This record gives sequence, structure tokens and C-alpha cells, in this order.
Amino acid sequence: MFTQVEEYLNAHQAEHVETLQEFLRIPSVSADSQKQPEMLKTAGFVQQMLERAGLNAQIHETAGHPIVTGEWREAGAEAPTVLIYGHYDVQPPDPLDLWTTPPFDPQIRDGKIYARGATDDKGQAITHILAVEAWMKTLGKLPVNVIFVIEGEEEVGSNNLDLFLESKKEEYACDVAVVSDTSMYAPDLPAITYGLRGILACEVKVTGPNRDLHSGVFGGAVTNPINALTQMLSRVQGENGRILIPGFYDDVIELSDEERNQFSDLPFELADFKKDLNIEEVHGEAGYSTTERRWARPTFDINGIYGGYQGEGPKTIVPSYAVAKITCRLVPDQSAKQLTAALKSLLELVCPPGIRMEFKDFHGCEGLVFNTSGDHFQAASRAIAHAFGKEPVFIREGGSIPVVASFEEIFGVETLLLGWGLNSDNLHSPNEHFHLANFHRGTLASAKLWEELGR
Ligand code: BES
Ligand code: MN
Ligand code: MN
Repeated sequence: MFTQVEEYLNAHQAEHVETLQEFLRIPSVSADSQKQPEMLKTAGFVQQMLERAGLNAQIHETAGHPIVTGEWREAGAEAPTVLIYGHYDVQPPDPLDLWTTPPFDPQIRDGKIYARGATDDKGQAITHILAVEAWMKTLGKLPVNVIFVIEGEEEVGSNNLDLFLESKKEEYACDVAVVSDTSMYAPDLPAITYGLRGILACEVKVTGPNRDLHSGVFGGAVTNPINALTQMLSRVQGENGRILIPGFYDDVIELSDEERNQFSDLPFELADFKKDLNIEEVHGEAGYSTTERRWARPTFDINGIYGGYQGEGPKTIVPSYAVAKITCRLVPDQSAKQLTAALKSLLELVCPPGIRMEFKDFHGCEGLVFNTSGDHFQAASRAIAHAFGKEPVFIREGGSIPVVASFEEIFGVETLLLGWGLNSDNLHSPNEHFHLANFHRGTLASAKLWEELGR
């Protein structure tokens, strides 16, 4: 009886918050090589949570951070098999001085838990573990077979995950995947996300003279690498922000009128959007709304640029080198691999004499859109309505989760992207937080989803 599961969840809310706090205390920053011991510790913590939930849990070594899996497959061959994914790694907490309380000392204020990873993705990922635990502790079984895959490298591109998943191609054959690592549309308006943007991430380094030089003694006689890099980057975008990487728009699938109408039917106040960000004007491709620009159009962004003197006061030098970190958000059917190569060629082409260029390809994944007519979308919709008291809206989002394309490629399954977070939860930002009400509702929705999928 589901009421027993629901009662169990209600009775154990405080304990669930404590478990989340413990999870959030471990600083599992995947990008920071100094944090390797903490990554192992976090993987161990995830394994323990899975075991406590009644699953058979294992840690798998990779070339990077370990992957943790948990299985319970006794629902029978007739019952569907669900692959549940989450990530235990988090973004770096910097800039530290902007946090009200320390990023790895989770604290509750106004019904929100503040810590790095609160919403992205520790808080969201464990809702599914806690939901399974509730079923196992009350009824001793689940209506579906489950396989959990919780990885530690999502925030650095999931570069070692595909190899692991390929090795489990037969063993992990499944009917649908479930991921909670996205956002609700608005407070009190839950959403099912049926589309994500892809990404390509790279770094370009340009080097001139073998050392920093006096800009009076040498300036004007050698190419300045920062001047060169900014000029090179200015060739990637033209008039009105048009991206000039050859072939960039060739495979972009245009929005249909139907989808544009669905987007514009969603509540959205441009004035509030601007106010929240403290900007006078929004900016983007002509002919597209802000929502269309964020969810369904590709981008070129310089994420960071450095070189030369960064300290206080002036310093008269021609720097030795300059570096830029770049990402492009991609939409179906753009190819991350092809466009990374095209961007590299373009930068090589416009690289001036006297400058050596090095290019690092960090990671990439394709954008995707699901057709929402499948039964599992309806099952998820009912589960969410039960827990949140409101039918979810179907949305696309602009972020990227590399594994989702892999699930489709390797297992041929669609992913239910059920976000319990909010865009205002400060993910990747100082003072990241998660509303405890959404944490508990998400856990209940997950528990209900197993029942709905098992029908
Ligand atoms: N959870 C996010 C992705 C996300 C956030 C999707 C909000 C939809 C709404 C995920 O952890 C993330 O940050 N992904 C990275 C990509 C990764 C390859 C580094 C991103 O989108 O920048
Ligand atoms: Mn995430
Ligand atoms: Mn993230």
C-alpha cells in the first residue's frame, strides 16, 4: 500500500535532512585534484546510503573519480527496469568570501539548506535513494527493478562514464532512465524537462615571447599575446552575435511554431528577469524570445580569460602568454566533435604570426529533445502531481547533462528529467541552496513514480 510508504516518508523527514547534511559536508569538488581523498570518501558515503536503502551497492574505479552503482532487481521480468542517475561531485565553491556560511558546513535558513551541492546534485540525487529506502523499509520490495549509477565527474564533463556504461550495455538493459538534476519551472510550478542543450568546452592558449618583456623596450616589436587572443576571439562572433565558426548553424533544428507557442504560453515576466539580474536590457539573437534563446539556440561564451599582470596597480609588460576558456551551448542536431574541430581550425586560421597556439578539448556532448508522448512521461506527470499538488509543465532547459545522450545511444532509452531545484537556487554560485519543501516533495514524487511506472 502506497499510503504506508508515504507515511514512512513523512515520519522520516528530519532524518532525511540529516543524511543530506552529512552528504553535503564532504567537499567533493571533482575539478580539484587535491580533493581526491574526499572524492573517495563521498563515493563510500553514497555506497553506504544505497546499502542502507536495501540495494546491492558497488564502487567502480575509473581513470578518474569512481562510479557508485546500486541494484535491486527482484521485481520480476515483467516489471520495468529503471536506470537512475545522479552525480556526487560538485562545482568548486569559489568565490568563498561571498558565502554567508561556509560552503561545506550545511545550514538551514528559511526552510532552505545552504551548501555547495545542495541542489546540484546531492540534494536532488538522494531523493531517489530515500524513496527506494522508504519502499524497502515498509513493504520490503519495489514495484520496479532499479539500477542506480551515481558518478563523480559530471561537473568536469563525464569523460569516463561512457566507457563504464558501454561495458554494462547488456547487464543494464532498461526501459527508462530517471535523472533529477534540472529545475522546476518556478516555485510551485513543477516541470518535466524534455530537452537539454549540449555543450563543447575547450581552452586556447597563445604564447609569444619566452618571458614577460618590458613593454617600453620590446613593445611594438613583438606580437602581444593578449592583444592577439582578443583579436582572434573577436573573429568568432560577427554582427549581432552571429557565430562565425564554419558550419555552426548547418545542423541546427529550428523551433516549430507549435513549440514556440508552448514556450510563450508559460508564465514569464521579462521585467522580473531583468530585475533579478540587475540588467537594463536582455541581449541575444534577433527574432528569438529570451526563453527561446536560453533553451533552444546555440551560444559562444568566453568563460574566463587571463594572462599578463593581474595584481594591483600598473605594470608595463608585454606578457608571454594568454589563455581563454570557451564553451558553446549546442542544440539538436549540432555535433560537439565536429564543431570543436571547426572552432580550432578557425582560431588557427586567424592566429597571427609570432604567436604559437595550443588548443585543449575538455569535453562535449550533444543537445537533445524527447518526444513526450511515451507512457513514462504520463507516469512521471501523475507522480509529480501527487507530490506537488500541481500538474507539471513540459519544458526544455539550457543546461547540459552528458549522460542523457549516452543513455539514448547505449541503452536506447529516454530519460525522465524531473527537476526538484529552482533556477534561483544559486547552482554553481555562492550560497547554493535547496528548498527543503522541494527536497521532501521530490522524494515523495520519486516514491510515487516507482508505483506509477510499475503499473
Ligand atoms: N545540473 C546541471 C545541468 C542543468 C542545470 C541542467 C540546470 C538544467 C538546468 C549540471 O550539473 C551541469 O552543471 N552541467 C554542466 C555541463 C557539464 C558537462 C560540465 C553545464 O551545464 O554547464
Ligand atoms: Mn548537476
Ligand atoms: Mn552542475
